[in-house]
Amino acid sequence: MKKFSSEIKNYTTDGKVVHYSKLENINDKLSKIIGKKFYDYRKKWDDANKLNLITEFPLFLHVELNQTCNYQCPHCIIGNPDEVKKYYPKKNADINFNDYKKIVDEGSEYNCPSISPQGDNEPLLIKNFEDYLYYAYKKNFIDIMFNTNGSPLTIRRAQKILDSGVTRVRISLDAYSDEVYKKVRVGAIDLEKVHRNIFQLLELKSKGNYKLPIIGVSFCKMKNNEHEEKLFEEFWTDKVDFVSIQNYIPPTINKVKYFDFYTDDQVLKKEKKTFNCNQPYQRVVIRNHNIYPCCVTLAIPEDEKKDNLIIGNIKHSTIFKAWNSNKMKNLRMIHKEGNYKKNNICNNCVNLNYPTKKFIEKLKNNI
Ligand SMILES: C[S@@+](CC[C@H](N)C(=O)[O-])C[C@H]1O[C@@H](n2cnc3c(N)ncnc32)[C@H](O)[C@@H]1O
Repeated sequence: MKKFSSEIKNYTTDGKVVHYSKLENINDKLSKIIGKKFYDYRKKWDDANKLNLITEFPLFLHVELNQTCNYQCPHCIIGNPDEVKKYYPKKNADINFNDYKKIVDEGSEYNCPSISPQGDNEPLLIKNFEDYLYYAYKKNFIDIMFNTNGSPLTIRRAQKILDSGVTRVRISLDAYSDEVYKKVRVGAIDLEKVHRNIFQLLELKSKGNYKLPIIGVSFCKMKNNEHEEKLFEEFWTDKVDFVSIQNYIPPTINKVKYFDFYTDDQVLKKEKKTFNCNQPYQRVVIRNHNIYPCCVTLAIPEDEKKDNLIIGNIKHSTIFKAWNSNKMKNLRMIHKEGNYKKNNICNNCVNLNYPTKKFIEKLKNNI
């Protein structure tokens, strides 16, 4: 099988998070374990990423089952309950197992290759979360993934995860030292305990000769932890399959404090003239039953979101219809042309991802 790249040992699924691995390209490694079907899917993924391929159904289903977390990270929307209340106002809008089955069944019908049943929430707080993973596995998804903060990762859960058919597990740490960990992950348990949980999972995997899942750790780089980025990388690179470094993006435009998390090197001198977002070519995001074309959680009033970015609802329609809707086609065209400014939400998103000093000052003055 041809390699994705013999040199590059990093990859990104969304252009925002970069995963590093010392061993080999992680997708080469997965192609070796899973076989040609994985290779073929990654090939399609790469073409979609370049905006050169529009598949009949999304390649990736990103499903946020609820908005519940045991941490209150100040940089995350879920760590700001007033914001959650404002942007996720509906009661009884969690995606339950039956809703999830409907999503997976539709995906399976179209041979959808990849799924993550987790968004900004902490998935291991769901007692039978492993059943969600296993259901996707049974329905022939070949790249099943989730992030966890690792605090609920007991030995019992670790064993269940290994037996669930999941492909990738990423434990988000965001810190090297306990001091920084407790600042960044407010409400967190001791970092040492999370490390213990990770090593336990790695040991169970190795003793049980499991090839999958591949296991990595991640670090969201911000002003309050950037001094630990290198220490983090050095500590983890030889211990796990991959280390991810992720850029911070303010979850909304409502609070001055969000703009203080930017690192200096994230701030650009000039605004981007063009931008081609690849997410509407890759995925849909499903949250509170609504279907979105991307991971956006930005400061968009609920009514504007309806007009602008909601492309469907799993209760009333299908993912297939949403993916092939005129709204989605229009969005793909905007991004093919690099005309992100044509959509107000895309305009906000690009500016928040690639901020200029001027943009930050303007937002701060408007709050
Ligand atoms: C949102 S959490 C969700 C999953 C799970 N609870 C966990 O901790 O892995 C996943 C990662 O995203 C990071 N994160 C939270 N808010 C973010 C933001 N606004 N921009 C970038 N990353 C963010 C967290 O710090 C964490 O590393």
